[in-house]
Amino acid sequence: MTIKKIMVIGAGQMGSGIAQVCAQAGYKVIFNDLKPEIVRKGIEGIDKNLSRQVKKERMTNEEKDAVISRLLPSSDLQDAKEADLVIEAAVENINVKCKIFSNLDAIVPEHAILATNTSSLPITEIAAATNRPEKVIGMHFMNPVPVMKLVEIIRGLATADEVYQTIEDLTHALSKVPVEVNDSPGFVSNRVLMPMINEAIYTLYEGVATKEAIDEVMKLGMNHPMGPLTLADFIGLDTCLYIMETLHDGFGDDKYRPCPLLRKYVKAGWLGKKSGRGFYIYDESI
Ligand code: CAA
Ligand code: NAD
Repeated sequence: MTIKKIMVIGAGQMGSGIAQVCAQAGYKVIFNDLKPEIVRKGIEGIDKNLSRQVKKERMTNEEKDAVISRLLPSSDLQDAKEADLVIEAAVENINVKCKIFSNLDAIVPEHAILATNTSSLPITEIAAATNRPEKVIGMHFMNPVPVMKLVEIIRGLATADEVYQTIEDLTHALSKVPVEVNDSPGFVSNRVLMPMINEAIYTLYEGVATKEAIDEVMKLGMNHPMGPLTLADFIGLDTCLYIMETLHDGFGDDKYRPCPLLRKYVKAGWLGKKSGRGFYIYDESI
């Protein structure tokens, strides 16, 4: 199937990155969020990223403008009527995602594929909210999307082979590397990564070391590019908590119990870099 127009739902950090790489690969992108100002902020972020590339002489100003012109701002889900593919990157909540998919199902053309960038939620359950489960698939990008090569691709129970093939081809067209994994809580990436982050939070909670020391041990000792607490702030503490809850509920195993400190920070609105405070304090003006 030929994909020409892609709708990206959610203009947060992941949606913005996905919209950027799709537009850079030449696709027209309907870029949707709940409010126009959120989409505007997303486009400003993409513009800033691309301006860095221009400054480094990896792209001309004209090329940058062409990428930005392929982004079509939207705050109305009805705009999905023109999409060949929707990639959903809204909040990590099963009810929100099922609602979006059920609404989209009634709007998009018959041939359209509905993909979700969920970090951990069951693709089969999201697909069941539609009347086209064979056209629903998981397309899990990594953060920051313009830099990270991996896309986990996850079939739901009913996903058609040709839908899988189309998404694998698209992943290559975006200069990413697809890896197929099964529909299981957290897939592979977050089944392995998130318990490590949760354990780092327990280590802080139990006073084993300071946040700086925990991050330094993992950076210098294990060669991780970011310490786990910095990475948690970067991902978003709300997203980390949702993923841990999905692992805990999905496996029914207490080894996935979210750390109470993580819950407390999320309740306080300390969501990490995106809210200005998490384990660390971020000042965008610096
Ligand atoms: N958007 C776009 N580009 C970015 C970026 C962003 N947010 N942040 C950094 N970059 C680019 C920089 O422009 C720079 O590009 P060039 O080398 O081409 O000039 C490059 O990345 C390196 O950046 P820096 O030198 O500023 O910083 P760094 O070397 O420390 O790298 C990093 C930054 C790539 C984010 C690195 O710290 C890293 O790899 N961190 C770990 C990221 C990670 O683990 N991601 C997975 C998270 S889990 C997930 O995504 C799944 C989930 O469901 C939660
Ligand atoms: P974010 O909080 O930065 O952005 C979420 C965006 O979704 C917000 O702008 C919000 O306004 C929007 N939104 C919420 N409900 C919506 C709706 N009904 N319609 C349209 N927009 C809606 O979150 P994020 O980090 O970009 O994460 C988005 C998704 O990507 C989540 O499912 C998350 O698990 C997944 N993901 C996150 C990461 C990460 O590192 N943060 C990595 C891979 C996948």
